[in-house]
Amino acid sequence: MGSLGDWPEPVVCVQSLSESGELVIPGQYIKPQSERPSFCLKEMNIPVIDMTGLITSREETMKQISEACREWGFFQLVNHGVGIELVDSVREIWREFFHEPMEVKQKYANTPKTYEGYGSRLGVEKGAILDWSDYYYLNYLPLCRTKWPAHPPSLRELMEEYTNEILKLGAVLLKVFSMNLGLKEDALQKAFGGKEVGACLRANFYPKCPQPDLTLGLSSHSDPGGMTFLLPDEQVFGLQIRKDNQWVAIRPARHAIIVNIGDQLQVLSNSIYKSVEHRVVANPDKQRLSLAYFYNPKNDILIQPISELITLKTPALYPPMTFEEYRRFIRTKGPRGKFQVESLKSQR
Ligand code: OGA
Ligand code: NI
Repeated sequence: MGSLGDWPEPVVCVQSLSESGELVIPGQYIKPQSERPSFCLKEMNIPVIDMTGLITSREETMKQISEACREWGFFQLVNHGVGIELVDSVREIWREFFHEPMEVKQKYANTPKTYEGYGSRLGVEKGAILDWSDYYYLNYLPLCRTKWPAHPPSLRELMEEYTNEILKLGAVLLKVFSMNLGLKEDALQKAFGGKEVGACLRANFYPKCPQPDLTLGLSSHSDPGGMTFLLPDEQVFGLQIRKDNQWVAIRPARHAIIVNIGDQLQVLSNSIYKSVEHRVVANPDKQRLSLAYFYNPKNDILIQPISELITLKTPALYPPMTFEEYRRFIRTKGPRGKFQVESLKSQR
């Protein structure tokens, strides 16, 4: 296992590779045949859920959400209550950030210690095969503002506003999930650490790629945290999820926020809800931007299947582990860390 001190080799920014105009991608981005994107994808879409239904047709909407969590691990929320202008401005401000000159962005270059800041790789394995994307990673909760970009100037304020909306949405969904699982309505919020939830953002920038059939914008992974709120690029598709062992391409609905179950909710629900693998394919003609907001349990609280969900027929599938402990594996090994954690769990 590499140390979490620094990167094992110099980090190359994918945006500058893309802008070099080179028609062949460097060998370090070429995926093995089995991981390359497939083009015969199923024409399906994840459930679209209208949040106003929680007021106008509550039972039906709760049922739709329940099915989406059990069968898909992913759904799109429309009429989610987060202002459309806010959502558009947040996307726009990050697009502006990624178009700042390289010297500006490099000021925020990250290290694998916390990952906060501007970066291009996940995991510290020397010689690892890399993804065709750059990102900016920000911690919001527990309170910490050390690595927030100072440019564009309105970014901080907009992100504060957006975060508050996401936190509200997260709290509503945790209630809905708790009730759908037959638990007290505050059960999951309590399991997440009450008011002390964690929140962090990953702004993903996927530059144009001259050989999109050989690589991926983001390798297959499941999100390690509680749940994710994704603002996808509305013009450029690319997100795919694994459903019944096939890749399904997601078509975002207008102004939708995509929600997915993370590993910690899979554990808490004792696998009734699934943290589903997903990936992003690269695009030859267009750059793509997305914002993934991770709503997480408190770092040091033990996460384990909720006792009411453990029965003789459904014994606990996971031992207790803090989110911090879990995340360390992912950060060391990159997205493949999950499977190593799974085998570690079964050894315990
Ligand atoms: C992520 C992620 C998907 C996307 O950041 O974890 O899955 O569409 N992003 O960029
Ligand atoms: Ni993800």
